[in-house]
Amino acid sequence: METQVVTGAFGFSGKYIARRLLKKNIIVKTLTNSVNRKNEFQNKIIVSPFHFDDADKMAAALEGASVLYNTYWVRFNHKNFHHSEAVDNTLKLFEAAKRAGVQRIVHTSITNPDKNSKLEYFSGKGILEEALIHSGISYAILRPAVLFGKEDILINNIAWMVRKFPVFGLFGDGNYRLQPIFVEDYADLAITEGEKKENTIVDAIGPESFTYRELVNVVSKIILGKKRLIFSMPDEIGYWMSKLVGVIKGDVLVTREEIKGLKGDLLYTTSPAAGKTKLTDWLIANKGTVGKEYANEIKRRKDRTISY
Ligand SMILES: NC(=O)c1ccc[n+]([C@@H]2O[C@H](COP(=O)([O-])OP(=O)(O)OC[C@H]3O[C@@H](n4cnc5c(N)ncnc54)[C@H](OP(=O)(O)O)[C@@H]3O)[C@@H](O)[C@H]2O)c1
Repeated sequence: METQVVTGAFGFSGKYIARRLLKKNIIVKTLTNSVNRKNEFQNKIIVSPFHFDDADKMAAALEGASVLYNTYWVRFNHKNFHHSEAVDNTLKLFEAAKRAGVQRIVHTSITNPDKNSKLEYFSGKGILEEALIHSGISYAILRPAVLFGKEDILINNIAWMVRKFPVFGLFGDGNYRLQPIFVEDYADLAITEGEKKENTIVDAIGPESFTYRELVNVVSKIILGKKRLIFSMPDEIGYWMSKLVGVIKGDVLVTREEIKGLKGDLLYTTSPAAGKTKLTDWLIANKGTVGKEYANEIKRRKDRTISY
């Protein structure tokens, strides 16, 4: 039987990929920072830490795998984790995969990566894409803008704020765009790309595009049955307001870099849709639950036993 590896199978996108691999009767191994995270797989998945500090152990953990699905990344710079560390660690992962004879890597990137970007999220992803392209390993690079689904953070927390507050503040005019893809569609795409041999790069975007302003309106109309009053704020005021919410929730709601990425239209492409599920349809089907609970990024990092 074939063995394949997915990073972060107890996290968000990795879980949906792992589910599909198991359905295909593939032996699934996960590399994770959270070996004890509560998960649905019980003993159906082989679990290993990443071993970023031990190249031999990392290569051994990948030995015998035909495909590596890599989702590993850190969302923002923080006192406990940093983009540059995620770049270094991912380079080690690619190197270990090469040593272990992994035949193909399906790598999750971001829309509009650019190694020269001033935003470390996008420059880090650009550096990693270049390294993978030159690694000699067959690759599929998937570039999602935003993933949505039960465990997502961005859209869930927009819904949470819409539920909690009578008004909604935008960073500037809110006319920057996003193209969310459903996590189930994303996982389907990852598996399809994992089965190929040729090198591919795909903008992993869904069928609907929204400006941020439209997104807030759509979410509030579907969830509350009415639009929230929206107002524009200078970025710095918006940042400090979100910081206040973050302090109350023990989280980082949004970073200055993320605001710049949004406003730079970096979550938007002109590519055709790679997913078929509309966010609006999914919101209608899930309007009773989306945003009921705040989704906390930092809590997921601090408590490595809780499920997403
Ligand atoms: N979610 C989105 O809306 C979105 C949008 C665009 C691109 N992406 C890209 O999609 C990929 C997967 O995203 P996801 O939302 O599915 O991620 P996730 O499941 O939350 O995390 C994926 C992996 O990264 C590890 N990780 C995340 N944050 C970390 C931190 N601060 N320190 C150490 N390890 C950390 C996780 O660790 P554990 O093993 O401990 O779980 C897991 O192995 C990422 O490459 C991301 O850049 C996501």
